[in-house]
Amino acid sequence: MDKKWWQEAVVYEIYCKSFCDSNGDGIGDLPGVMGKLPMLKDLGINCIWFTPIYKSPQVDNGYDVADYYDIDPAYGTLEDFKKLLDMAHSMGIRVIMDQVLNHSSDECVWFQESRKSKDNPYRNFYIWQPPKADGSEPNNWGNRFREGNGSAWTFDELTGEYYLHQYSAKMPDLNWEYEPLRQEIYKMLRFWLDLGVDGFRLDVFTRLKKPAGLPDAVNASDPALDRNGYILDGSMCTCVEGIHEILHDIWANVFGPADCYTVGEGSGINAGNAASYISPAAQQISSVYHFNLSSRKREPFTHAQFRKVQSDWAKLHEAGCWATQYFSNHDSQRQVSHYGNDGLYRVPSAKLLAALTLTTPGTPYLYQGEEIGMVNVQFDSIEDYNCRYTLGDYAAMVAQGADPKTAIRTVGPRSRDNARTPYQWNAAENAGFTTGKPWIKVNPAYKEINLEADRESPDSIFAWYQKLIGLRKTHPAILNGGLEFCDADSPQVLAYTRSCPEETLLVIANKSDAEAEFALPEELAKRPWQPVARNLPGDFPAPEATAKPWECRIYKA
Ligand code: GLC
Ligand code: CA
Repeated sequence: MDKKWWQEAVVYEIYCKSFCDSNGDGIGDLPGVMGKLPMLKDLGINCIWFTPIYKSPQVDNGYDVADYYDIDPAYGTLEDFKKLLDMAHSMGIRVIMDQVLNHSSDECVWFQESRKSKDNPYRNFYIWQPPKADGSEPNNWGNRFREGNGSAWTFDELTGEYYLHQYSAKMPDLNWEYEPLRQEIYKMLRFWLDLGVDGFRLDVFTRLKKPAGLPDAVNASDPALDRNGYILDGSMCTCVEGIHEILHDIWANVFGPADCYTVGEGSGINAGNAASYISPAAQQISSVYHFNLSSRKREPFTHAQFRKVQSDWAKLHEAGCWATQYFSNHDSQRQVSHYGNDGLYRVPSAKLLAALTLTTPGTPYLYQGEEIGMVNVQFDSIEDYNCRYTLGDYAAMVAQGADPKTAIRTVGPRSRDNARTPYQWNAAENAGFTTGKPWIKVNPAYKEINLEADRESPDSIFAWYQKLIGLRKTHPAILNGGLEFCDADSPQVLAYTRSCPEETLLVIANKSDAEAEFALPEELAKRPWQPVARNLPGDFPAPEATAKPWECRIYKA
């Protein structure tokens, strides 16, 4: 079956602010990215996802958009962006843009207008409610960043009403019930498509629909962090009935006619409900970036969870759906620290995780820095952190009497800043990221862990990524093959086959710190397995050989 371009893509996520600074102001920028396109081409990726680079006060590093039609001056100009787009396209690299459609910045002209008066034409672009009789908030919802007093509502003196914000008070929620808002968004999406972008990553797309009547929350997601009776129930605005109508409307107006790629980021999606969003018949979005395996707050997935999630999503492919694969992004920890072993086994475990991402069904999403095995960071001072969750969780803990040292050691490991420290290009000052003062501290590990050192090493992680990405082009089973686990539920080894009419691939991954014995089911054991790739040096052993810690091998029959 013919594939769409995005089914064959390997996507690389760029967090522009931390990628490469070209002018010494300490902030990564578009000219910086342009200079590194050859490196990305060399890696083998063929699509870039930009997290928001629109004009923004940067309260949430761009997820608070002030001007949906312009590039933030810290990153460059619209002209720079067009140039970058042309360069990327001429190199065979597509570009998808983040679209933040759940909320805008309070500095967006729509909100500036909206707050002016109750009869302003933009009033209903946002969700305004009068206070309760006692003057309090319309309901008890907490904001996700636990900011301010904790409420998801902020009172605006000017008109005497509250507005809703699931995140920061500086990120008011947009009102998708209001037709003119929809039309304004559609116009804006078409603007970027006309400019030549290849698709969109849709931020928190499952939250666009709010429950009718805005009822009080009852079930706290993390009661320990709730403040002043404001309850954060993560599912309150997630996948609410009516969400499909909104998504289909966007599709009918924009995505469908443009036939563009869309990947929705959102909680609440699993193999059970995914088809209602992403099957072609649903006419909503192309694919979904879900949290079934990777989440900043949860413990790392178990072997059993990995098998179950992968098998369930693989089945969806038979229904015409298409999955995504990733372990890290700008909202997570560094994958080698969270799911691998960033000490003794940093290199092989980084490689093993890469193999899982790049040999399972769906579109792989790589995050900047994982191709050189970048690791988590622990700062000692809250001032060094920037992530809104980290700041809010820390404040909540300290308000409840935790001592600051304990609080920082608790919030640090879950901080999104682990993934947001500057890209480590080389061992020079500031890891070669900037000649100025970086907007967030560089991870001190950069002296050992950096692109230059990695590429000079015979054991290069970058080279392993190149190899795996290359395999996707020569082995049809990776793109088209079915997925079958064959590891007898081993507590250490994850093993699976990918089979299509032309070939069968076998992946054996010892995702553990200890050596592992491993046997194949009889019918597989007797097949003539040829070596394809291995993440350790030395002779290539047979499939059933004892696997070293974090060893990963790929065979073909
Ligand atoms: C998504 C983004 C995250 C942002 C949030 C609010 O989860 O990935 O970085 O803080 O949405 O826009
Ligand atoms: Ca800069």
